[in-house]
Amino acid sequence: MKQYVVRCAWCVGLAALLAACERSSAGGVPVSVRYPDHVAAGGNQPPAIEVKNPIASDSTIVADGGKIFSAMNCDGCHGGGATGWVGPSLVDGRWRYGGTDGALFESIFYGRPRGMPAYGGVMSPGAIWKVIAYIHAQPIPSVVPTQVWPSTETAPPPPRKQRP
Ligand code: HEC
Repeated sequence: MKQYVVRCAWCVGLAALLAACERSSAGGVPVSVRYPDHVAAGGNQPPAIEVKNPIASDSTIVADGGKIFSAMNCDGCHGGGATGWVGPSLVDGRWRYGGTDGALFESIFYGRPRGMPAYGGVMSPGAIWKVIAYIHAQPIPSVVPTQVWPSTETAPPPPRKQRP
């Protein structure tokens, strides 16, 4: 039964990805996740897909996601409970690359440039969705050990080049 559930979750993840590819390949536009919090020039968001976690989250899925989080050594960098270590906290409600299902999937599947490995080659989409369910189920701790990512409004302007 457990085997079936795991396989089934994997299929659901794959089906969602395939469906996403099918819809977005129309007109030669490459598959892309929609980032609703990005500013769009002219107010027009580019063609992209609102990716949602295809796995309905319940306590079993969240517990499975927690086990995968440890098994894949996510906690080795993001700390126990994902509260932050050498990698940023994933449970403080603040995101550098976005906290939507689609943005999280992209972070985990493709990796991110400042030290986040791409897991898409070693984790099934179903396993990634379970980890995302786990991350979203964590409460925001009262003490947040990692730094706030500078937001675009408060970040200091980039240093100007000195003129000779
Ligand atoms: C080798 C250390 C390391 C491991 C292992 C690791 N991460 Fe990361 N992760 C990072 C670092 C460092 C960043 C910040 C990357 C950046 O800012 O470009 C990051 C960023 C992220 C982000 C984006 C955070 C944001 O603010 O947008 C997510 C989501 C994430 N990791 C999830 C995971 C998951 C899930 C796993 C396990 C499957 C994992 N990470 C394993 C180091 C790691």
